[in-house]
Amino acid sequence: MESQHDIPPTPAERIIEVRAPSRSYDVIVGAGVHSNLAEPIRRALPGARKAALVVDAGITAESMIDVLMGALASAGLEVPENARVSLRPSEADKNLATAQRILHAMAAAKLERNDVVIVLGGGVLGDIAGFAAASYRRGIRWISCPTTLLSMVDASVGGKTGVNLLVEGALHKNMVGAFHQPSLVAADVNTLSTLPDRVFRAGLAECIKHGMLAGAFGDAELGRWTKANLGAIGSRDPATLVELVARNVAVKARVVVGDEREESADAAAGRALLNLGHTFGHAIETLPKVSPTADPTLAPLQHGEAVALGLLCATRCAELMKLIGDGHRELLSLTLKNAGLPTRAYGLPPSAEIYERMLHDKKSAGGVLRLVLPVGEGVCRIVDAPAKDIVMRAIDAIRA
Ligand SMILES: NC(=O)c1ccc[n+]([C@@H]2O[C@H](COP(=O)([O-])OP(=O)(O)OC[C@H]3O[C@@H](n4cnc5c(N)ncnc54)[C@H](O)[C@@H]3O)[C@@H](O)[C@H]2O)c1
Repeated sequence: MESQHDIPPTPAERIIEVRAPSRSYDVIVGAGVHSNLAEPIRRALPGARKAALVVDAGITAESMIDVLMGALASAGLEVPENARVSLRPSEADKNLATAQRILHAMAAAKLERNDVVIVLGGGVLGDIAGFAAASYRRGIRWISCPTTLLSMVDASVGGKTGVNLLVEGALHKNMVGAFHQPSLVAADVNTLSTLPDRVFRAGLAECIKHGMLAGAFGDAELGRWTKANLGAIGSRDPATLVELVARNVAVKARVVVGDEREESADAAAGRALLNLGHTFGHAIETLPKVSPTADPTLAPLQHGEAVALGLLCATRCAELMKLIGDGHRELLSLTLKNAGLPTRAYGLPPSAEIYERMLHDKKSAGGVLRLVLPVGEGVCRIVDAPAKDIVMRAIDAIRA
């Protein structure tokens, strides 16, 4: 028989307040927090009567949905049958047609301005359903219940919502969207227990990224802590996951509140710093034949895998520009390997082609390439118009 001592204690819940200029809200992080959401929902959403529930079809554990439904009922929220939408997330279906499906369900269930959209799922679903919430009746409130590591530490905080746009055969990521902060975020690390390994590890790339810039945002130790705890993180120890998610959310929240709409001109402080690794990453992420291993069936890269490779490119770029000393890329490479993330990309096109794609990234204004580069432990800054040959050599650093 199991004695009381064999049952690991439930880790304490953590609450991070996001004080964005447009709305303040809590991010609740813990193990099992979805069971206790009734009171936080009542507090965060006065006047709400009905909810639309958008669920990720990748969540096969019915109990996760039942737990949330129970909390909504206890909070006094009705979820009409025709306001329940289950969607299988993909970048191809992250589009206006899918947002419209959610909008139709909301309208059919006669949701009013005071009502709410609840999202249980990963970043793709959060982005689409958050966008539907931003658009319906010019904006109704929404609650994010993220169920992937990436959506817990990144996508669900900060209010960016949106969908992709297919223009002349090319998929433009997040081209249509709105800034619309949620009213509450509930990150229950118990939901991560069913997440496929590759998806879980991809989320870790964003945590490693946060560690590389957290020095300027109140957690200079985050990078070191993450490296030291990769074993417990990989085995999905609940207490370590709560700590990981809470610290990453706190860093993201501090970045976001200072620059909600990514307009800051301060090269050392704005939300644009979160693009570390992303300008390189975006350029290779949508290439259908690029794979994280020699096995081509693993192509394309997951977003987080592309970010991991992008972090390596950014670090190599900084070394070549003498912004940091040599050896940083080697250390980062070791961390990524320990996290089970790729350090080489297979099937890359020529570096000049990748450079061209980077120039057209929506974050590079007026054809001038803008990169976020590490300049010290936990510190990054923005560098405009880096020399083309340096950027190409940095890309070569991840070529298999
Ligand atoms: N809004 C933002 O600020 C922001 C930030 C970063 C990324 N994003 C967006 O997030 C998206 C990526 O999100 P993601 O990495 O969460 O991927 P995702 O939403 O595609 O989910 C990955 C996979 O995991 C499955 N899944 C989700 N939860 C599960 C669970 N608990 N158990 C089992 N399977 C589960 C999904 O069905 C899917 O197959 C991208 O579209 C990206 O643009 C947005």
